[in-house]
Amino acid sequence: MSSTARAFERKHAGCWPVGHLAGWRGPSGFSSRSTAREVVRENAGLHTLHGRVAVVTGANCGVGFETARAIALGGAEVVVLACRDSIAGAEAARVIQDEARFVAGDDGSSSCRVCCLRVDMESFESVRTFADAFARLNLPLHILVHNAGLMPAPYERTRDGHERHMQVNVLSPVLLTRLLFRALRGEDDGSNTAGADEGALLEKNAAARVVFVTSAAHRFTYPEGVRLSRQTDTHHQASRANHDPMRAYGESKLCVLFLAKIFACACEASRAPRQRRVAFFAAHPGAIVTKGSERARLESGGWRGAALHAIGRPFLKTAEAGAASVAFCCVARFEAEEDASSEEKDGKNSFFLKNGAYVVNCDAARASRFVERDVRLARRACRFAITATNAFPETRNDAFAEQLANGAYGA
Ligand SMILES: NC(=O)c1ccc[n+]([C@@H]2O[C@H](COP(=O)([O-])OP(=O)(O)OC[C@H]3O[C@@H](n4cnc5c(N)ncnc54)[C@H](OP(=O)(O)O)[C@@H]3O)[C@@H](O)[C@H]2O)c1
Repeated sequence: MSSTARAFERKHAGCWPVGHLAGWRGPSGFSSRSTAREVVRENAGLHTLHGRVAVVTGANCGVGFETARAIALGGAEVVVLACRDSIAGAEAARVIQDEARFVAGDDGSSSCRVCCLRVDMESFESVRTFADAFARLNLPLHILVHNAGLMPAPYERTRDGHERHMQVNVLSPVLLTRLLFRALRGEDDGSNTAGADEGALLEKNAAARVVFVTSAAHRFTYPEGVRLSRQTDTHHQASRANHDPMRAYGESKLCVLFLAKIFACACEASRAPRQRRVAFFAAHPGAIVTKGSERARLESGGWRGAALHAIGRPFLKTAEAGAASVAFCCVARFEAEEDASSEEKDGKNSFFLKNGAYVVNCDAARASRFVERDVRLARRACRFAITATNAFPETRNDAFAEQLANGAYGA
């Protein structure tokens, strides 16, 4: 391909729908057709997964399974599948483990260890039990992928008193991030970090990242973006009457975008060097026929679901292609990485994601007007998520609660 044609592709890959349908490669070098394994393989020289520990929620099927598989086959040291169904999770771990054994590292190094721990994102207690089980493994954490998600569904409250989309897609991921934050920052579980070898810890935990799997459906939220009053409505009658499955799903995925942006700003602004090395991204996998999307289409889609399905048919991806953007967030370099040399930054194959980026087809994309402009709503949504997950002694005075108290949020 001529350099002019390549430059044209790079410039227009994000133009919807032509760039998507034609599979044009954007600035990152990847396209709507790239797969998770391809993304990990081709980024290996820039940001190796060797020695990394990853947790992927909802990894027994669909996008989560393909993301976990790509990370494991890319040479990570440990991949923990966080699944609600332990039997399906153990089976998925076995399949990935077998494949990882088969695809041993070039240097003959031992393959990745893959295991499953149970978590039900509808219950804060279950999230906490998961975090405790992870802590007992005594591992650092470099990659946390919040993939488990509830697709459009009828109104229901969880046992913790929250609307279901909000708890599964937003509050439980926030709680899990907070409970695992010490591991993400590279701190040993204990309070003796002052005397620890900071350099070694930074090295051990270089470029930790948290990836929220969001959706382009965040654009189909309620007119006011996020209905925070509804989230705190204890009688639930009004909420039930006004519930719209598609909008409630969009609302939760909009919150996730707010969180990625605001947590990224909070970490970047932090005075603690370890915290500045934790990046947050939000990735839209694309339209994929999976167990969850089929259930949502048949049960809660209504006429909009049918219309979206018809319009979206030419844009459908396989789960492996859907996982590409998620995997990309796990391996791409991000701007705040302090060890990024200027040569790498200037190198023609190196692509740097901005901390807090919204990623579609492996490239930074523009989110809805709420994300781009409504900083106040973003802050309020974030504050709501932090307050709702303050219930545990471990979270009450953590870095996020501290930043909230200091008002250190940007956007
Ligand atoms: N498919 C699409 O077109 C599309 C488009 C945009 C965004 N997404 C997002 O992509 C992510 C993955 O979805 P997918 O399409 O791969 O669907 P999927 O194959 O149905 O996977 C969803 C995963 O989330 C898990 N999960 C759901 N509720 C859970 C809970 N309460 N606790 C723990 N795990 C739970 C499921 O576990 P079980 O197997 O036990 O149910 C499953 O492992 C979701 O966040 C979704 O919103 C999907």
